[in-house]
Amino acid sequence: MVSTSYFAPMEGGDTAFTVEAPKIKFGAGSLSEVGKDALSYGLSRVAVFTDPDVVAHASVGKVLDSLKAAGVDAVLYSDVEVEPTDRSFKAATTFAAEGNFDGFISVGGGSVMDTAKAANLYSTHPDDFMAYVNAPIGDAKPVPGPLKPHIACPTTFGTASECTGIAICDFLDLELKSGIASPRLRPVLGVLDPDNLKTLPPLVVAANGFDVFSHAFESLTARPFTQRAKPDDPSKRPLSQGANPYSDVACQEAVRLVGAHLVGAVNDPQPEDYEALMFAGMLAGIGFGNAGCHLPHAMSYAVAGLVRDYHAQGWPSNHAMVPHGISVIVNAPSVFRFTGPAAPERHLMGAKAMGADTANLAPEDAGAALADRIADMMRQTGLPNGLRGVGYGPEDLDALTDRADAQQRLIVNAPLPVSRENLRDLFEDALQLW
Ligand SMILES: NC(=O)c1ccc[n+]([C@@H]2O[C@H](COP(=O)([O-])OP(=O)(O)OC[C@H]3O[C@@H](n4cnc5c(N)ncnc54)[C@H](O)[C@@H]3O)[C@@H](O)[C@H]2O)c1
Ligand SMILES: [Fe+2]
Repeated sequence: MVSTSYFAPMEGGDTAFTVEAPKIKFGAGSLSEVGKDALSYGLSRVAVFTDPDVVAHASVGKVLDSLKAAGVDAVLYSDVEVEPTDRSFKAATTFAAEGNFDGFISVGGGSVMDTAKAANLYSTHPDDFMAYVNAPIGDAKPVPGPLKPHIACPTTFGTASECTGIAICDFLDLELKSGIASPRLRPVLGVLDPDNLKTLPPLVVAANGFDVFSHAFESLTARPFTQRAKPDDPSKRPLSQGANPYSDVACQEAVRLVGAHLVGAVNDPQPEDYEALMFAGMLAGIGFGNAGCHLPHAMSYAVAGLVRDYHAQGWPSNHAMVPHGISVIVNAPSVFRFTGPAAPERHLMGAKAMGADTANLAPEDAGAALADRIADMMRQTGLPNGLRGVGYGPEDLDALTDRADAQQRLIVNAPLPVSRENLRDLFEDALQLW
């Protein structure tokens, strides 16, 4: 077995992991092939989803030209809301239902790809909006049949939404983020063209890059799949299986690429930075799709959900929001300081791959060294200084803790047991990073 000591067997623990591999095309110029790709899936009339900013960039024009050249009828929908809501998912569904489309193309970030997934689902298998939404908020009804082909063309590089069967939105009345999860939501093809990234605002590059790092490093330090109880029925093996030898390979390289390219890509971008970061995003997506994230993501839902008045440069300013990558990385230093002792060699590897000086570092100090290195990189890329930087103070610690504590699916994937008190301490430690 390709395992290391991290995957030591446990009495009653799982002995197998599964590999879900999305279909991906990667390379500069690949957007010009989308028309032929659509034909290969038998599409003759498609909806092209994007958002009001991305529509002005070259990527959308390239896709429309390519579809036209291939003789595929295309109708543009550019009203996707950034950080989509139940309201905007419903509006997109109405468009999809009325257009008589046989497929969907999304050109944009996670907001656009997720909206196309939802519109595809609800127009193909109409039902009450809460029917397919994850429990306990919704009924988590299984998607009853296949969806129409969806080709996802990301213009950001962090979410890996092109690889996943997940669509996330804000539930406006409930003031929380949740989503729909089904393998049937996964796009049939992800087209990753690094040329798309050239127009990204610097802070969006930084937020995406840290999200990629966190996907990869949370997967690497997730509880090993061997330390989770073996399910009596293989179909009950969770999507988040825990760290495994397959996700390890992809995630180690993703962390190395972020460490080598992120600060440069934000402050003085070179073409090779975009290619490296988009590739890192893809690797981390494959990794966390099989291993699963843990604490920084669990805590991020609280940070994003309770926002009061934070606005980030590079995102639309019509409503307060903590963009996903920022809501994740503000928690990461305190988390990795805490998880370091549970997987010292892995934290040492992460610290080194991110560029920390590890020459004389004992493995037990690696979590702290990695935390310091992340904080350094955040400062160099203009990110907010911890939770205070996005508008929270000590008076918010209990509310943040309550929200995060509800994310048990993610919390149990951490490499050590995590109590409510631990979570509160982690938020406290995340208030200010430097
Ligand atoms: N489905 C999943 O598996 C998954 C995973 C993680 C996050 N998400 C969701 O994805 C969303 C975030 O997605 P995101 O980080 O990709 O960003 P985004 O789609 O929200 O876009 C961020 C901003 O960047 C702009 N933008 C996008 N591409 C651009 C480009 N090439 N040039 C210039 N501007 C550009 C957008 O117009 C927007 O203002 C959130 O809603 C999050 O919850 C989904
Ligand atoms: Fe993420």
